[in-house]
Amino acid sequence: MDNTTPASLLDEALQRHLTGMEAAAALALRETLGAIAQACVRIGDVASLGLLAEAHGMAGASNVHGEAQQRLDVIADDLMAGSLYECRHVAAWASEEHEQPHVSPAHGVQGSLLVVFDPLDGSSNIEANISIGTIFSVLPHRYRSVAPGAADFMQPGHQQLAAGYVLYGPATLMVLTCRRGVLVFALDRRGAAQGDAPQWVLMNDEVRIPEHTREFAINASNQRFWEKPIQRYVAECVAGDTGPRMKDFNMRWVASMVAEVHRIMTRGGVFLYPRDTREPRKPGRLRLMYEAAPMALLVEQAGGRAVNGTSELLDLVPDTLHQRVPVILGSRDEIDRIVGYHADPSENVSWQLFRTRSLFVQPQA
Ligand code: F6P
Ligand code: MN
Repeated sequence: MDNTTPASLLDEALQRHLTGMEAAAALALRETLGAIAQACVRIGDVASLGLLAEAHGMAGASNVHGEAQQRLDVIADDLMAGSLYECRHVAAWASEEHEQPHVSPAHGVQGSLLVVFDPLDGSSNIEANISIGTIFSVLPHRYRSVAPGAADFMQPGHQQLAAGYVLYGPATLMVLTCRRGVLVFALDRRGAAQGDAPQWVLMNDEVRIPEHTREFAINASNQRFWEKPIQRYVAECVAGDTGPRMKDFNMRWVASMVAEVHRIMTRGGVFLYPRDTREPRKPGRLRLMYEAAPMALLVEQAGGRAVNGTSELLDLVPDTLHQRVPVILGSRDEIDRIVGYHADPSENVSWQLFRTRSLFVQPQA
């Protein structure tokens, strides 16, 4: 977009963006995304008040993953549920914080959409005042006239009608796809002094992830648990211009997936939370339905690629609502390379080497 284009607000921008879509389907999507965006304005308000709103600290309970919930996790979940409850198109929703989906009391039968969300991604960063976010995915409710159950949510990521995240960082941004490219909106609160409601202003309607990159993100403390292709990929990045890649790489790790993906949307890069052997029962850390799949749709719509190592994340059919998957996403060239390493039977780097030597610390002479 250029400086001469007048600022376009969320609903109006979506109206234009969804031109050509069947009218009722477009309206349902617009109103549902409006409801999600509204909830995220409120979540952002509470997040920015932090200690002042007594929103920090532990909630005193655990979520379905056995993780201790923070107060802001619970507040964000309630705010999102409250907004979806009001929305006439949403038949049911499911969140990281609850074992089972929640069927809308008023719209469970007639609503045409299902929403899945991670109300507060990156919760370990709340008290450190580092960027956090909300991730959401909108799916069709295929069998209308019957209230949906968990089985109705078990749709592969490529069936998502829309997906996005809101990043509560120095700026509050919403990054959204309705399968027609990726849009970025910024939350404008400048009218607050005059009593005007905050507005989502369209900033970019053609997000493209650069195909090439020299930046990767991975939690290096898990190195000894990684699989061989990941050991090889990271070793080669770390070897820089002295290794086979013949160029130096930079590494980042925020520990908020929303912030990592947003950095990749902005300047390219690779994000890896691969399968590891820490807890063999768990094939990865991140959740398919409300972390991996929505981010995969966004990344693909921006020209990048998202895989579990061997398969496209968008092709995976969930078995359960809270299923975990390995996630490798970002700049296309690098993801192609990593998929190639997973397929390559003649690995040239020995697993043994990495069991005895660190990639990051030179062994003593
Ligand atoms: O929601 C899971 C999450 O917090 C992601 O936002 C983030 O990428 C990851 O976990 C951080 O994991 P770790 O604690 O291993 O750094
Ligand atoms: Mn999360």
